[in-house]
Amino acid sequence: MSDSFDAIVLGAGAAGLMCAARAGQRGRRILILEKADKPGKKILISGGGRCNFTNIGAGPGNYLSSNPHFAKSALARYTPRDFLDLVESYGIAWHEKTLGQLFCDGSATQIVDLLLEECAKGDVTVRCGEDVAAVRHDGGVYTVTTQHGSYRAPSLVIATGGPSIPKMGATGFAYDIARQFGLKIVEPRPALVPLTLGGDEVLFREISGVSAHVVAGAGKASFPEAALFTHRGLSGPAILQASSYWRAGEPIVIDFLPGRATGWLLDAKRDTPRATMRSVLKEALSARLADILAEKLGIEVELGNAPDKALRAAEERLAHWQFHPNGTEGFAKAEVTVGGISTAELSSKTMEAKRIAGLYAIGEAVDVTGWLGGYNFQWAWASGVAAGDAL
Ligand code: FDA
Repeated sequence: MSDSFDAIVLGAGAAGLMCAARAGQRGRRILILEKADKPGKKILISGGGRCNFTNIGAGPGNYLSSNPHFAKSALARYTPRDFLDLVESYGIAWHEKTLGQLFCDGSATQIVDLLLEECAKGDVTVRCGEDVAAVRHDGGVYTVTTQHGSYRAPSLVIATGGPSIPKMGATGFAYDIARQFGLKIVEPRPALVPLTLGGDEVLFREISGVSAHVVAGAGKASFPEAALFTHRGLSGPAILQASSYWRAGEPIVIDFLPGRATGWLLDAKRDTPRATMRSVLKEALSARLADILAEKLGIEVELGNAPDKALRAAEERLAHWQFHPNGTEGFAKAEVTVGGISTAELSSKTMEAKRIAGLYAIGEAVDVTGWLGGYNFQWAWASGVAAGDAL
C-alpha cells in the first residue's frame, strides 16, 4: 500500500476512532492502524461494560495536567452535550448514574459501533492486527512499518493511549514515538488506582470489603464519595480520585464523618454520657470500621468520663485521619495515566506538535488526565475532534 492516505492514525481507541471519523467526514483519506484484533477494547470494558461515555459537567477543572489551561480550548469546542447529541442520533438509550456520569442503558458495544459507523461515513480504513514496529519521517512523509508492510502519509496521529492495564496490551508506545521525535514526556504515573497500606496500617486490611461515605483528600484536592478497604489497602471512588493527586510520601487524609459540626463529640458527651466511642461511631459507620477506629483513638471510658481535650482531639483525628500509603497497585490496576506527552509540545487548538509538522498526539497519550466519571472519554472525544478538524 502506498501514498493513498492523507493521515495515519495509530490506535483505534476512543481518541483515534473519533479523530479518524471526523477527518474522514471532512474528505480526508484516513488509515487507522490498530495493534489489537478489534477496535475500542478499553471502551468495551469501560464503565462495567456500560461505558461511562461522558460527564455532563465536564470542564477544565476536572483534569490534571502540568498546564491546566491546555485542555480548555478542545473541551470548549467539543462538549459533553455534543457527544450526547451524537449518542442520541444513534438512538442509544442512556442514563445518568450519579454526579453527571452518563452511561449506556445497554452496552458499551453501542459506543464502539457508533464510532465505527462514523468512521464508515468518512470512508476511514481501519486495519486491526497491525503492530507498529517503526515510524520514519523523511521529506515531509511519515512511513509506518508493521509486520504486514509499510504505510505512508504526510500526517501521523499518535493515539495509542497510556500504559494503564498492560494485560490489555497497553504500553508506553506513544512515549517512545514522541521521544523519537524529540518531544518531552511528563513522567507517567498510575492514576485512578487503589493505594496500598503497610506498617501498622495493615490493621485496616482486616476490614477488607467495608466501605464508608467519606471525604478523601490528597494535596489540595478532596472528593466526597465512597472509600473501600481492601485486602491490600484503600480503594473505592473517593480513593481512586484522590490517588491521581497523591505523591509518594504524602498522606491521604480522610474525613470519616463529613458534615459533622465542630463540637459534636462534646455534645454527645453531654447528651449521652453513658455512650462509648465505639457506640457513637457505630451509629454512622459499619461496626467493624467503628471498632478499629475506636481502638486506634484509645478512649476506652464512657464519654461522660472522658476529658474534653481528649474528645476534641478524637474529633479532629476523625475529620483528618491520615493514612500513609506505601504505594499504589500500579499500572496493572490503574484506570488511567497521569503525565504523558508534554502539552508544551502541542498546539492546544489542533494537537499538532509545534516543532514537527504533521505530527499529532491525542487522548490518554497526552499529559491531560480526567477525574473518574466519564471525564477521560470526554477528553478522548474532544482532543480527537480537535485533531480531526485540523488534519
Ligand atoms: P485507548 O487506550 O482507548 O486506545 C489506544 C489504542 O491504541 C488501543 O486500542 C491500543 O490497542 C492501540 N495501540 C497501542 N499500541 C499500539 C501500537 N504499537 N500499534 C497500534 N496500535 C496500538 N474513562 C471514562 O471516561 N469512562 C469510563 O467508564 C472508563 N472506564 C474505564 C475502565 C477501565 C477498566 C479502564 C482501564 C479505563 C477506563 N476509562 C474510562 C479510561 C478510558 O478507557 C481511557 O481514558 C480512554 O480509553 C483513552 O482513550 P485513548 O484513545 O487515548 O486510548
